[in-house]
Amino acid sequence: MSTLPSPSIQGCGIGLRSQHFATIEAQKPAVPWFEILSDNYLIEGTVQREFAQQIRPDYPITFHGVGLSIGSVEPLNKEYLKRLLKLKKELEPAWVSDHLCWTSAHGYNTHDLIPLPYTEHVADHIAERILQVQDALGERLVIENVSSYLQFKDTDMSEWDFINLVIEKSDCNLLLDVNNIYVSAINHQFNAEDYLLAMPADKVKEIHLAGYEDKDTHLLDTHSRPVTKPVWDLFAKAVQHIGDVPVLIEWDNDIPEFSRLMQEADTAKKIQQEQLSKLVNT
Ligand SMILES: [Fe+2]
Repeated sequence: MSTLPSPSIQGCGIGLRSQHFATIEAQKPAVPWFEILSDNYLIEGTVQREFAQQIRPDYPITFHGVGLSIGSVEPLNKEYLKRLLKLKKELEPAWVSDHLCWTSAHGYNTHDLIPLPYTEHVADHIAERILQVQDALGERLVIENVSSYLQFKDTDMSEWDFINLVIEKSDCNLLLDVNNIYVSAINHQFNAEDYLLAMPADKVKEIHLAGYEDKDTHLLDTHSRPVTKPVWDLFAKAVQHIGDVPVLIEWDNDIPEFSRLMQEADTAKKIQQEQLSKLVNT
């Protein structure tokens, strides 16, 4: 029987990064939960894995990966899944998430989140693979919308229709990255609110927030900056649409001190509570 506390996730969490291990160990900050980049924890005996084991009794965690490559045409990587399952058994995350994209082909891992053509045929393919992963996990996979910089000629539906179709066919859950919606809306000139309001609120398990860089010709999802004003505004609308779900601050490049991440999580919490109180009062 498990000796770990319930992995119940609430409030505004922070992505766990090795740069902050010492601070977390010394200060035991009042963070409601951490999300770990599960691909970095798959090898047993590493500093990362031992740190996650060490803090797990004090903090609930979620898994967030890029290695499933759910959109690839090659068979799912069984060795990867096996390691993920072992890690899952050890750390008991609240859920396991990955991205609605592909990252590898012909055995080569790009380490990039490459978007998909949005067609029913592709939705069938993805849903079939999500079902296989869910069978292995014994629970629903949580799938995240990615930001993108190109579109495929074969695409014959909106990204939001495609996401709904994949969820309908696989019964998976959704990790809604509000920053990714905004970045793609600017890059592809669609209305971010149309996308947001089309999301199935009852399937959203978690919201991501992050900062992008403005490259003049396009926005680049770098996770290297504070969350911007238009993304906070879209987040407020997301809370109105979805209600009370856990929110996570992602910061992966030019990583600041841990206290700065806590400030960002506090801002998210404040906006979330303002919007939730409006929902209660209407
Ligand atoms: Fe994200």
